[in-house]
Amino acid sequence: MSTPMEKITHLLRSVTSHRDRKNLNFHYSYLINDEEISRLQFQHYVYQQVWDNSNFSAPVKDLLETDGTRILDVGCGPATWLLEMATEYQKSNFTGIDIKPTYPTETKPSNVNFQQADLLTSLPFEDNTFDYVFCRAMMFAFRKTDWEVAIKEICRVCKVGGYVEFMEKDIVIENEREFTRKLRSKLTVELMKKNVEPIISQKIEDYIRNTNKFSIVKHDQRSVMIGGADKLGKEYKDLFTWGARNLKDAMKKSGYNVDWGSIEKSIEEISDSRCCDKIHRIWARKGECNSMVEVH
Ligand SMILES: C[S@@+](CC[C@H](N)C(=O)[O-])C[C@H]1O[C@@H](n2cnc3c(N)ncnc32)[C@H](O)[C@@H]1O
Repeated sequence: MSTPMEKITHLLRSVTSHRDRKNLNFHYSYLINDEEISRLQFQHYVYQQVWDNSNFSAPVKDLLETDGTRILDVGCGPATWLLEMATEYQKSNFTGIDIKPTYPTETKPSNVNFQQADLLTSLPFEDNTFDYVFCRAMMFAFRKTDWEVAIKEICRVCKVGGYVEFMEKDIVIENEREFTRKLRSKLTVELMKKNVEPIISQKIEDYIRNTNKFSIVKHDQRSVMIGGADKLGKEYKDLFTWGARNLKDAMKKSGYNVDWGSIEKSIEEISDSRCCDKIHRIWARKGECNSMVEVH
């Protein structure tokens, strides 16, 4: 007997295995504009609260406080995470790379550098360069097949003994009711047709493990209520609504129209039924080859 989640996953798999793979990509550039940059900045501060005001889960605090530690933020966007980290940990050197230079080039701390680069062709760094590589919110930037390539490249530039960390939110809503379930299922099927992987967190963990280069792999998750009476719930609902609006606009550019009235109705249902989003952090320590020690 399949669970509802297994049925949806099966449906999604069958849709993508039979489709024509040409011309179905969702382009991240559909999303990026000044408003999306402001949303990413707001998202940084909301996510930080979700994780008890912490910016990372990997055990890298001592490393960050050590002279000359090198940190890379891949797909840094406006670099809110990186600028905050660089201000807090002044002994470390921070590098941000992004395919599109939305990061600040003039006003920045002296321990920060930015470079325009495409993670999926190859990063302009030698093997084993960084002590810690961070990568957040890339779901709409990557096609499904890009994830494995990206993770191998991130692994290559991470030092043996160093750490990698990913943070993503799957398009799954805990406790959702019927109207929302139908709308979300339709949206996830559309995204998969466009080569986006809407449920990515477990796959990131699997791709990391499959490299056979990491001695510790850990997957943390936090549930956050979308709405409710407290400050975080209210802010999270604003973030969720803002993200839904930008995604709707981007989907329209890629040829799929979602009616905003239906989205608003769903957001009210989500909020009334105390639904939650789940945010994932997956971190791993690069070890000697084939020295896998599992930690859950
Ligand atoms: C949703 S934003 C996330 C930004 C940032 N990591 C954050 O958490 O705020 C995704 C970023 O990935 C960048 N990006 C997309 N494809 C990329 C690639 N192949 N290589 C490097 N950066 C890429 C985009 O330009 C965008 O700035």
